[in-house]
Amino acid sequence: MSRTSLNQLRKMKAEHNKIAVLTAYDSSFSHVLEQAGVDIVLVGDSLGMVIQGQESTLPVTVEHMIYHTANVIRGSERLFVITDMPFMSYANTDQALHNAARLMAEGGAQMVKLEGGAELVDLITALTQRGIPVCGHLGLLPQSVHKLGGYLVQGREQSAADKILQDAISLEKAGADMLVLECVPAALAKIISEALTIPVIGIGAGADCDGQVLVLHDMLGITPGKRPRFSHDFLADSGHIPAAISRYVEAVKNGEFPTAEQQY
Ligand code: KIV
Repeated sequence: MSRTSLNQLRKMKAEHNKIAVLTAYDSSFSHVLEQAGVDIVLVGDSLGMVIQGQESTLPVTVEHMIYHTANVIRGSERLFVITDMPFMSYANTDQALHNAARLMAEGGAQMVKLEGGAELVDLITALTQRGIPVCGHLGLLPQSVHKLGGYLVQGREQSAADKILQDAISLEKAGADMLVLECVPAALAKIISEALTIPVIGIGAGADCDGQVLVLHDMLGITPGKRPRFSHDFLADSGHIPAAISRYVEAVKNGEFPTAEQQY
């Protein structure tokens, strides 16, 4: 069995078939996601918080990401696998090329994800011209939590919304093949999803994105503390983990998730 390709994901956007994405960090969950019909697994640096118990994603290293990506790869045959480039692992182009190559060659990732806007254009051009597929990440950028002053919704004011839209267009022009939009108003996410030809995957970005992503532990209701408003405890509805993940896939695919209450 071969892994889902970028072409298949682009086709899903073109045909208005919603893309179901979840995070995972190990082989067993990767297997469960694949069986449940998830399209993409994101090995997120959220592992710093949900696996390692850190206060933020900042302590996560390239070594951690390689280790977890390799575990996820071993648990699945078909899932498209995206891995986060951790904090400061892409501070300049040489470093980004070196670390992205390791995440792909040693970890097995098919795509790397980086947080940031137009300031990353040269770096993304360098990666994509060397055959490294890139997923951008705009809106709430967890690696910049201290600069942003908290995990807050982004793009509420017109000037901030305009900047996120322009950043999204710049990232696509630079060669990014996918975009994650985190915690932005649903109306802005709709405009961006329609403006771009690449798949736009939302988390707290409303129902009009081309796909949805959640942190696995949030959607199983096991993240310590308050669950984000945009998430939903699918395990509480379903009773066991494989059923909860299948239910998530179904809810994304048929447009039941997110609801109006689960967006901004
Ligand atoms: O690290 C992560 O899990 C992510 C998602 C929140 C999109 O980047």
